[in-house]
Amino acid sequence: MQRIVYLDNAATTPVDPAVFEEMKPFFSERFANPMTYMHSSAGDVAQTAVEEARGRVASLIGSKPEQVVFTSGGTESDNWVLKGTVEKASRERLHKPGHLVTVEFEHHAILHSALALQRQGYEVTFVKVGHSGIVDPDDVRRAMRPTTVLVSIMHANNEIGTIQPIADIARVAHDHGALMHTDAVQTTAHIPVDVDALGVDFLSLSAHKFNGPKGAGVLFVRDHAALYPFIDGGGQEWGLRGSTHNVPGIVGLGKAAQLGKERLPGELERLTTLRNMLFDKLSARIDRIVVNGDMKQRVPQNLNIRIEGIDNEPLLLAMNEAGIIAAGGSACNAQETLASHVLTSIGCDLKEAKSSIRLSFGYATTEKDVDYAADVIPNLVKFLRSMA
Ligand SMILES: Cc1ncc(COP(=O)(O)O)c(C=O)c1O
Repeated sequence: MQRIVYLDNAATTPVDPAVFEEMKPFFSERFANPMTYMHSSAGDVAQTAVEEARGRVASLIGSKPEQVVFTSGGTESDNWVLKGTVEKASRERLHKPGHLVTVEFEHHAILHSALALQRQGYEVTFVKVGHSGIVDPDDVRRAMRPTTVLVSIMHANNEIGTIQPIADIARVAHDHGALMHTDAVQTTAHIPVDVDALGVDFLSLSAHKFNGPKGAGVLFVRDHAALYPFIDGGGQEWGLRGSTHNVPGIVGLGKAAQLGKERLPGELERLTTLRNMLFDKLSARIDRIVVNGDMKQRVPQNLNIRIEGIDNEPLLLAMNEAGIIAAGGSACNAQETLASHVLTSIGCDLKEAKSSIRLSFGYATTEKDVDYAADVIPNLVKFLRSMA
């Protein structure tokens, strides 16, 4: 059987067997609706499981359980916080369209929500980033206006993995009377994420990026009164988010959060070592290879490299043939293989962006995987360069 080396964990991760085990009964014998807990013991079982999961997520991010609001994932959390806060503050406090500050290399869940707000007459500033892929808090300060209601800057970029100075940016936001959101989808359970240390009012996270199920996420909401509901419906989640709870997904998210918290210190060190080892081996065997974005201020699971003289599409296909799964742009934007908006935002030209690949590591990644990738990729590069 062909060896498979999965280096696309930034796109998604496999569900941990322990997570799956804990989810299973909630598809079958424990199927009740948690909102029926007042009159049904089966509902009470489901409600207890949801609240246990909430507590586990709260413990992972250092929040109070009631500040953890379950959503369908990172995309929903991002849409909700932008639209829910900007609309509410504009209507109820400013009495005119408010202003949002974000950064041009955000995930499209943020960028497209910001553009949707712009279409409705709200104002948006997209802060620029330089080669390092790290936002300068002074650039955020310069973007602030008296009408700025929200600053939304991702904790780590999903393509290049660079970690942003969120605590400093949150101080800028608060100094100007604005709220602060961070999309922590790529950092939760990978590096320490503490809502108080970061100083954020809102934080998005998604279970499938840390060995939990797809379709389960959270918006951390410091103060429920700061935003309008996104999904109107029943009284679930304090009336903030209607829809019957996705109990198996929430249970899986809770278990993944618990495992993530336990494993974090060890995994941070292990994956940093593996990631650096792969880069060292590749750069010893391939010339003209450059890391995109700052190498140090980067999540441990991410390596994004530019290999001059190759096109990432044939390289990724050849790697796939050899059993190595990696990415060019982000998974949510396969059609963006033309040129990633993240790489062009940090100053790569079209050709440089098209010669870049993202290798992202996970709990299942081993040293043997690294050795295999370090053996195979240089040969493929050599072959593709010889064809160019
Ligand atoms: C930074 C970032 N934000 C948001 C999302 C969207 O999350 P989800 O897939 O849970 O909707 C992703 C997923 O790739 C991401 O990497």
